[in-house]
Amino acid sequence: MWDFPFLPNQASTFAAEVDAFYFALVGVTAFFTIAIYAMIWWFSVRYRRGKKADRSNAPTSNHLLEAVWIIIPLGISLAIFGWSAKIFFEIKTPPQDAMQVHAIGKQWMWKFVNEDGKYEVNELHVPVGRAVEIKMISQDVLHDLYFPAFRTKQDVLPGRYTTLWFEATTPGTYHMFCAEYCGLLHSGMIGKVHVLTQDDYDAWLADAGGSATASSGGGSGNALVDGAKLFEEKVCHTCHKSEATAIAPTLVGVYGTDVQLQDGTTVTVDDAYIRESIKNPGAKIVAGYQPAMPTYEGQITEEQIVQLIAYIKSLK
Ligand code: CUA
Repeated sequence: MWDFPFLPNQASTFAAEVDAFYFALVGVTAFFTIAIYAMIWWFSVRYRRGKKADRSNAPTSNHLLEAVWIIIPLGISLAIFGWSAKIFFEIKTPPQDAMQVHAIGKQWMWKFVNEDGKYEVNELHVPVGRAVEIKMISQDVLHDLYFPAFRTKQDVLPGRYTTLWFEATTPGTYHMFCAEYCGLLHSGMIGKVHVLTQDDYDAWLADAGGSATASSGGGSGNALVDGAKLFEEKVCHTCHKSEATAIAPTLVGVYGTDVQLQDGTTVTVDDAYIRESIKNPGAKIVAGYQPAMPTYEGQITEEQIVQLIAYIKSLK
């Protein structure tokens, strides 16, 4: 059936369930639409003017009927709610051990940075059978990353990270679209996701060259290296040294840990916290420190923040 281009390939762990749910909704809708229209026609004919139907003693109330048309739609609605909520949480909850990929959307291209710092533009290579979590942000306007074959999509916002995940089940090359109208070349903001076997993926990773490097433009071709360079260029290293100083906490080994803040609360050092601390350093000051860091708001691109995050993550 999937040879007919009515639906895209099912290539992720939740594709089949999303499709099953979709067809169930279409089925329920079709059933009631047809039933209601058939009865409208049937009654129009049966009780049309001039027809000698018995119109005496028309019932004015029927408790059984009332109960039936409350209970049946309620049951159907709750079943739809329960089923869709189950799928929703599945799609919105990436597994803990998911491979981490960053995505930056900008007019009009997708840029990806994988765990090893490798860049890709309008292309994404992932291994089959492995959960992949994509942390996304926009450099400009609203975009939306959409993988039809994986049955998942998520808005990409300026100013905030959003997350999308999938586990591809079938090697192959699939479409990637921007699914939010974002300007003149929105329709051209497309790409390909390549699902590779683990061996092919390892081979692809080991190949340091390739088109991604060539198209990354000017940088080293690796986000970790670019992040390390940026860390010096933006003179982060003068305060954030490999051990904590009086002026700033160290960033070594800090990623993923919980740190205590001045106001007694704690925060987990994740991408969103690092990004906030670069753009608005005064927002969440680590306990025991003064707000000494200047803001980098307006002086750093989202891509550079991703490079810095990649670098800070690598500091062990
Ligand atoms: Cu980006 Cu539409």
